[in-house]
Amino acid sequence: MSTIERLGMFQSEPEAPDAAASQTCPVTALGAAFDPFSETYLADPYPFFERARREEPVFYSPETGYWVVARHDDIVAVFRDPKTFSAALARHPVTPLCPAAAKVRDGLDIAIEPSLVDEDPETHLKHRKIFGDAFTPRRVNEIEPRIRAIVTRYIDRFAADGEAELVSQMLYEVPALAIFIFLGARDDDAVFVKRLGSARAVVNWGRPGEAEQVAMMRDMGEHWAFTRELVDAALENPGDNYLGDMVRLHREDPSRFTVNYLYNVMFLMQFAGHETTTQASANGLKALLSDRAQWDRLCREPGLIPGAVEEILRYDASIFTWRRIATRDAEIGGVTVPAGAKILLLLGSGNRDDAVFPGGGTFDIERAGAKRHLAFGNGAHFCMGAPLARLEMRIILEELTRRLPRMRLVDGQDWEYIPTLTFRGVQKLRVEWDPAETPAS
Ligand code: HEM
Repeated sequence: MSTIERLGMFQSEPEAPDAAASQTCPVTALGAAFDPFSETYLADPYPFFERARREEPVFYSPETGYWVVARHDDIVAVFRDPKTFSAALARHPVTPLCPAAAKVRDGLDIAIEPSLVDEDPETHLKHRKIFGDAFTPRRVNEIEPRIRAIVTRYIDRFAADGEAELVSQMLYEVPALAIFIFLGARDDDAVFVKRLGSARAVVNWGRPGEAEQVAMMRDMGEHWAFTRELVDAALENPGDNYLGDMVRLHREDPSRFTVNYLYNVMFLMQFAGHETTTQASANGLKALLSDRAQWDRLCREPGLIPGAVEEILRYDASIFTWRRIATRDAEIGGVTVPAGAKILLLLGSGNRDDAVFPGGGTFDIERAGAKRHLAFGNGAHFCMGAPLARLEMRIILEELTRRLPRMRLVDGQDWEYIPTLTFRGVQKLRVEWDPAETPAS
């Protein structure tokens, strides 16, 4: 049996979760109504979230086989108990692979192992300390000028046009370039690698068709080969960047982590580091431009931008659910879930919980306490890349408000979201402005 078969697509198959969960799973009206791939829900899940928090904040969903948690404090309690609520299924495909994709998978020469996001305390604590401590403010801050130069370059390309589709013309590529600079990979490869990973959100967290699954498996093989080459080159000649730092730590003491583990973390970071930020930025610009007064305010007072970034992450998070699996019978918000229960944490719901964010459904760039949002998770696995994501989002807003303050949404556009359980991001964002009113760069 190949490693990957043993591990499912990314890591070990949870032990008979469906069997365990189905022993005691009361199906209520709310549970039956939860249809996370329906068009209505994907377009706007927030009315359902509000109802869940009010009526039944922890419920079983027969459609997905998950126990679903809607309130902020219950979600935090799950995140903060990693022994009881394992992260092992974080990247497990929601839809099983079809035979054709499984065949491609079995032919791949890759060695995926749990790495940070799907590790449990026995190994996670040690690895997180090493990889998290190296993710220093200095390493993040030193690349600010380069990220700003990239953002400026992208805006220059369309500033004179009077219109743009911001996702494809800027937001899709900028975060990929930023993570590549941070890791120490060549900029030229960033867009190619981003495309290799772009089907992964739907294949792992959605309801992909067979062709999509097969293509994604092939892309994954190519992406793995790219990652190995990247790490192998750094092992020969470590640069002055995050990957170089990790190689130096490995050389000092190879027992810290294996080379294969380093392949895995770099493979993870190249995906985790951009799709999330692309979508968060797109959701944020949609919210801001839908509320002209707040956009204008931000243009006049750029000092409000860091707070606006937190409110954007709270109001419409790009990772709006995340998963755990119970290692024993446990209680969540007064409801008992059985050992093996798969748990879906509705981060987007927790982010609008009035008990923590008064008037949670209102977008307010000056909201006090917005930073308590769950967009980056919480507890031991709290997003390691959060400082980099915040930096990128800040620069994107600083440059767009400075260069295109008169930018407005094109009227009547349809908002399309990718069909996944976990990723939420508007796919197209059409804007227009009068080029004559655009300040010079
Ligand atoms: C807006 C952008 C981003 C969002 C919304 C986001 C969200 C998340 C979430 C929800 C988790 C899981 C937390 C948990 O299990 O408790 C996570 C983990 C992680 N993220 Fe991010 N992320 C973003 C950007 C980034 C970037 C730029 C990187 C770049 C390196 C990154 C690297 C990671 C890593 C390595 C983990 C695993 C940490 C661990 O398990 O110890 N993320 N992120």
